[in-house]
Amino acid sequence: MPSSTQLVNQDASWRQRSELESMADLPPALEKELQRLDAEFWVSSDKLKKIVSRFRGELERGLKEEGKSIPMNVSWVHSLPSGDEKGKILTVDLGGTNLRVCTVELHGSEPAKGEKYTLTQEEFKLPKDLKTSTAEKLWTHIAGKIGTFLSDQGLDKEYSKDKPMPLGFTFSYPATQDKIDHAVLQRWTKGFDIEGVEGHDAAAQLREQLEARDLPVKLICVINDTVGAMVASAYNDPETIIGTIFGTGCNAAYMAKIESIHKLDKANEQVKHNDSGHMAINCEYGAFDNGHHVLPRTKYDERIDKESPRPGQQTFEKMSAGLYLGEIFRLVLLELVEKGLIFQNQNAEKLKHPYSIDTKLLTQIEDDESPKFKKTRNMFEDTLNLQPEDYEIELSRRLAELIAVRGARLCACGVAAICSLEDIKKGHVAADGSVANKHPKFKKRWATALGEILDWDDEAKKEGKGPIIITSAEDGSGVGCAIIAAMELERRRKDKS
Ligand code: BGC
Repeated sequence: MPSSTQLVNQDASWRQRSELESMADLPPALEKELQRLDAEFWVSSDKLKKIVSRFRGELERGLKEEGKSIPMNVSWVHSLPSGDEKGKILTVDLGGTNLRVCTVELHGSEPAKGEKYTLTQEEFKLPKDLKTSTAEKLWTHIAGKIGTFLSDQGLDKEYSKDKPMPLGFTFSYPATQDKIDHAVLQRWTKGFDIEGVEGHDAAAQLREQLEARDLPVKLICVINDTVGAMVASAYNDPETIIGTIFGTGCNAAYMAKIESIHKLDKANEQVKHNDSGHMAINCEYGAFDNGHHVLPRTKYDERIDKESPRPGQQTFEKMSAGLYLGEIFRLVLLELVEKGLIFQNQNAEKLKHPYSIDTKLLTQIEDDESPKFKKTRNMFEDTLNLQPEDYEIELSRRLAELIAVRGARLCACGVAAICSLEDIKKGHVAADGSVANKHPKFKKRWATALGEILDWDDEAKKEGKGPIIITSAEDGSGVGCAIIAAMELERRRKDKS
């Protein structure tokens, strides 16, 4: 291993890579630290290619056998929508901070007021301690909110136990599905740690609570948010090839050829009835490189992993997803404080609190164009009770950039690996999640990195110019989930007739 000083000397262009104009000089010791950090966080084109090659291998292994590092979960979604799907569906989405319940009316080929669907929703804040509670508390809570929504919307009068409302459930965690209305949780991700769900069928646990409340609903499907994003986007945009989330967590789904899913039992009745020759695969590639072979992990990444509820899991996600970027930023700042290089003689107590810096803050720092970076100063004051000097603002801007650029470049690797595996040369990658849609530079950085990996010319590397482009996904966990439920109901109807 070359030392970090050697790395810096090998690549003197690091400052030119930055898109930010310098607003203050850094004291020499801090400048040196920043060079070290740049060497640790920068992922070169060559490295990206190495990552993608290993990534593709792990995706392939997941298709061959169950229980591999990247699970490549079969979703039992047999095709993309035609765009004609219709129906009125209830959906529920267990997000990281909210529980969202919706009614989605799909209008298919007969849009209502120009829209292909009508959506009514209610969002309920998840109680903070639910994330670390028990199965019983989780499902009671969810069934309770579904009940509240049904009565708020008068749906409890419209539907009955004999004529139940179809329900789709977006459960965005790795789950083994033997069929579409079944989902055995492999492991919690995104900081969830609820006892009694891992290794159990989440669909059955929810169903039990729905029945206990006598709610007039029937659970039709359990889906992942990536599959939902792909399907909802394809409903409007037939060029959609992949659905992906760059948010609190990270992951993607695509339509795999049935013959490439070697682990699938071809004698299975559901496989026999598949007439598209494809199946949506929820990759769960946040788990890429759990064996630590190729990703350039820093000591900050290692610490985040060690202190997380599931050490050793979600290695890729912990370096690239929204839940962790703010935390990486915090750990670096804290280290510099401890070295006596920043915020000397100030009380940096708040900086010691894990996850006290939201990833949103990094976006705001990079985005700040206010005079004298007043917004950044205010954020430091409000969030951390710190009053930064100019050089500390300069350092924070550079650091926010380094961390976000690394995240975006890594995110391009997963998509490039799927494209290489499926030999996809063009199409739309429908992306959702706070990092994809709220960070103003994410898409541009992602596109550049994808172009570097796939050897595109400079023009194609610009956002929206390449053959594979990133688009903003339609609402996967509401509309996508409803479309999947409607497709599944139609399949069942056809199978019966
Ligand atoms: C979960 C995936 C999900 C992704 C984005 C990951 O932590 O394991 O199921 O798709 O986050 O929400």
